[in-house]
Amino acid sequence: MTAVPSACIVGWPAKHSRSPLIHGHWLRTLGLEGSYGCEEVRPEDVVGFLQTLQARGYVGCNVTVPHKEAAFGAMDVLTDRARALEAVNTVWIENGVLHGDNTDILGFVASLDAETPGWASRTAHALVLGAGGAARAIVAGLLDRGVELVTILNRTRDRSEQLAEFFGKRVQASRWDAVSQLVPSADMVVNTTSLGMSGQPELDISLEGLKPGAVVTDAVYIPLETRLLAEARRRGNPVVDGLGMLLHQAAPGFEHWFGKRPEVTPALRQLIVDDLAR
Ligand code: ATR
Repeated sequence: MTAVPSACIVGWPAKHSRSPLIHGHWLRTLGLEGSYGCEEVRPEDVVGFLQTLQARGYVGCNVTVPHKEAAFGAMDVLTDRARALEAVNTVWIENGVLHGDNTDILGFVASLDAETPGWASRTAHALVLGAGGAARAIVAGLLDRGVELVTILNRTRDRSEQLAEFFGKRVQASRWDAVSQLVPSADMVVNTTSLGMSGQPELDISLEGLKPGAVVTDAVYIPLETRLLAEARRRGNPVVDGLGMLLHQAAPGFEHWFGKRPEVTPALRQLIVDDLAR
């Protein structure tokens, strides 16, 4: 008898993660046998944990904050995307070998494709607020899809300059306080900072002068409608919230572990929206 495949989210902390809900929904609706759990692992233990993943009964896992860089170093085989970002969020085992991917890029791009089809051909210049791990994945996604110029603005100037340098041409860093001058030249504005998240300070920027069709998107999904998105909506601009990115980044891992490509449906979205409201 073959064992039922089992995967998990590995983080520190991890209990707040909605990944078990997402994968549980897909297992149920696709009628597949399998399970998806949650493992809180301390930073000093994560490499050892990943190296013994199979012995622990798992076929793979997701990796979340603060372990994505450590997971990168613990893999036997990496996808080009993981190598490009030097971070891993999805792990699977093939013949005892640990494979690592980074699906955050796909999550961002697939969410935009689903909600604002054709966005890439309309985006020459994107403004990215923030310069952390989320920004790195998002800038990579924008460049992959042919965006001509990305401007990164960050509170700590050094970090935005380092990230711009990491990507090279087509990416520039700018002063955080230049945001109001840059907004009118943008075809897309992306918030990747934690500002606007519940419990954090608000993201205090104005969208005055924003082009009518420019897409505004936020990696924050608690709350779903951040102040940034509410202002964009008021102006009549297309908006994409952070939940789509979370849902779409989960799909490739599910396919590796359980053998079927799942779909991001309105029912799944509603399940998470209801859970966030609890
Ligand atoms: P992640 O991997 O989720 O992107 P991170 O690497 O901690 O997380 O990055 C968080 C981002 O939010 C950074 O760009 C951070 O700016 P700094 O590089 O200056 O720290 C930004 N951020 C967090 N709190 C902020 C605040 N109060 N004001 C402005 N930016 C903030």
